[in-house]
Amino acid sequence: MHKISMMRVPLSAVIPLRTSELRPERHPRDTISSGDLLADSIHVAAALQDQLVGVASAVREQAPPPSGSAAGWRIRGVAVASHLRDMGLGRQLVESACNLITDREVSVWLYAQERVGGFYVKLGFVPVATRVPHHISGLVGLYELKLGNEEKSTSKQRRSGKA
Ligand SMILES: CC(C)(COP(=O)(O)OP(=O)(O)OC[C@H]1O[C@@H](n2cnc3c(N)ncnc32)[C@H](O)[C@@H]1OP(=O)(O)O)[C@@H](O)C(=O)NCCC(=O)NCCS
Repeated sequence: MHKISMMRVPLSAVIPLRTSELRPERHPRDTISSGDLLADSIHVAAALQDQLVGVASAVREQAPPPSGSAAGWRIRGVAVASHLRDMGLGRQLVESACNLITDREVSVWLYAQERVGGFYVKLGFVPVATRVPHHISGLVGLYELKLGNEEKSTSKQRRSGKA
């Protein structure tokens, strides 16, 4: 197996996988939100040789109620090529995007369908609400991670020898 590398990429690079793995029924340009276009938005990708095999984005966006976070970043467009799932790439992508957020006092939030909620819980996100209306996906869960807390729990895991 060739080495997979994580890198920061422009928005245009994440759109093909975001579309094929998350919104195949949509035109690629309709997967782009206004947050994606902000100057400080973060887009990361996993590359295997010359091919991008996973993507994730973090964009500045206030969390919706019932989250109490006034300022925040939203994780969106997390997708791993189907033949490379369950190998830790999704985790690395979300962590890479979070690590590039310079303000460590903010909360990071996201919407997730029930079938993937467990993935985000494994990464330290906490479910804030279930069955929140989402304009494309119907009823979804709202998950949140306080970046400061994430670092504390990661260093705790390191001390206990857990990756
Ligand atoms: C969800 C997705 C990004 C996960 O990526 P992945 O590379 O397969 O995930 P990882 O291998 O990094 O998994 C990290 C951990 O979460 C667990 N996990 C992965 N998918 C999970 C799921 N759907 N439900 C519960 N746990 C899950 C893994 O078993 C692993 O657990 P471990 O740390 O105990 O070993 C990937 O399945 C995907 O692209 N799905 C289609 C697109 C999608 O639904 N994206 C999410 C939109 S909100």
